[in-house]
Amino acid sequence: MKSFTDRVAAITGAGSGMGRSLAIQLARECCHLALADRNATSLAETARLAQAEAPQIVGAPLRVTTRVLDVADRAAMFDWAAETAAQHDRVNLVFNNAGVALSSTIEGMDYADLEWIVGINFWGVVHGTKAFLPYLKASGAGHIVNTSSVFGLFAQPGMSGYNATKYAVRGFTEALRQELDLMKCGVSATCVHPGGIHTGIAQSSRIASNMVGFMIESEQQGKDDFEKFFITTPDEAARVILDGVRKNRRRVLIGRDARAADWLARTLPAAYQALVVMQTRRMHRIAHKRARAAEAAGRRA
Ligand SMILES: NC(=O)c1ccc[n+]([C@@H]2O[C@H](COP(=O)([O-])OP(=O)(O)OC[C@H]3O[C@@H](n4cnc5c(N)ncnc54)[C@H](O)[C@@H]3O)[C@@H](O)[C@H]2O)c1
Repeated sequence: MKSFTDRVAAITGAGSGMGRSLAIQLARECCHLALADRNATSLAETARLAQAEAPQIVGAPLRVTTRVLDVADRAAMFDWAAETAAQHDRVNLVFNNAGVALSSTIEGMDYADLEWIVGINFWGVVHGTKAFLPYLKASGAGHIVNTSSVFGLFAQPGMSGYNATKYAVRGFTEALRQELDLMKCGVSATCVHPGGIHTGIAQSSRIASNMVGFMIESEQQGKDDFEKFFITTPDEAARVILDGVRKNRRRVLIGRDARAADWLARTLPAAYQALVVMQTRRMHRIAHKRARAAEAAGRRA
C-alpha cells in the first residue's frame, strides 16, 4: 500500500505507546481511524490528538471513531470490526498492536497470568486478523500488521509467557502472509518485531513475586531495569512500521537492538542462550550490589 490517504485503519492498543503514534502519523496522512483500547481515557486522548494533527481539508474531515474493548474478547472484536466497516464504509488496514508483558519463572507461574497474556497477545491478534479479514478483502486493498517483538526472535529467562505469545504471533503472521500471497486477494500482512521502545509497557507489566531474588531485587527495580533497554521512541517505531507497510515488507525489525538480536539468534541459535544466561547473571549481581548499597545508605541516614 503506497499511500494511506483516504484509507481506513483500525488500531488496537491505540491509547498509548506505538498505537497512539501510529494513529497520529496516519491522521497526518489523512487516513481515517477506528481506534480501540481497554482504557477509555487514554483512548479519547489519542482520538483528540489524531484529530488535532489531521490536515484541515475543507469538505473531507478526518473520521475518527473509538471503541473501548478487550482484544481477548472474541465477540467484542467481531462486533467492532462490523461496526467499523459500517461507520467508515470500508476497512483497509488493521494494526493488531495491543499487548502486555509478564515476568515470571515457569516453575512459579500462575496459570491465570499465563492465560491473561496469551488471551491478549496471541488471541487478540488472532481475533483481530479473523474479524477484519473479510472487510479487508472486500476493500480490494488491505493490509494486516501484527505486532510480535524482539522476544519473538530470541528467548529470555523470566519472559516465557511473553516469548510464547510473540513467537506464536510470528508463526501465525508468517503463515498468514503466505496464504494471502497464494490467494492473490489484494490483502497483505507484515509481522513487526520492535526492540526496546520507550512506552508504558514496562510500568504496566505484571511481575510475579517469584522473580524477586531470582533475577531482580524488587518489582520496581525490575520495571526500571526493563526500561533501560528502551532505546527507540514510539514515534520512530511508528514511522518504521508505516514505511514497512508501504514497502509491503514481510517482517519489520525496529531498532539496532532488534537487528542485533535477530542476527545473534540466527548465527548462534543454540549458543546465544548460554550468552543470555551469562549476561542475566551479571545483571542480577549488579542489581543485588546496588540494592545492598542502597540498604546500607538507608541505615546510615
Ligand atoms: N515497548 C517495547 O519495548 C515493545 C517491544 C516489543 C514489542 N512490543 C509490543 O508492542 C505492542 C504495543 O505496546 P507498547 O509498547 O506501545 O505498550 P503500551 O503499554 O504503551 O501500549 C499498549 C496499549 O494496549 C492497551 N491494551 C492492553 N491490554 C489490552 C486489551 N486486553 N485490550 C485492548 N487494549 C489493551 C493498553 O491499554 C495500552 O494503551 C505490544 O504488543 C507490545 O507487546 C513493545
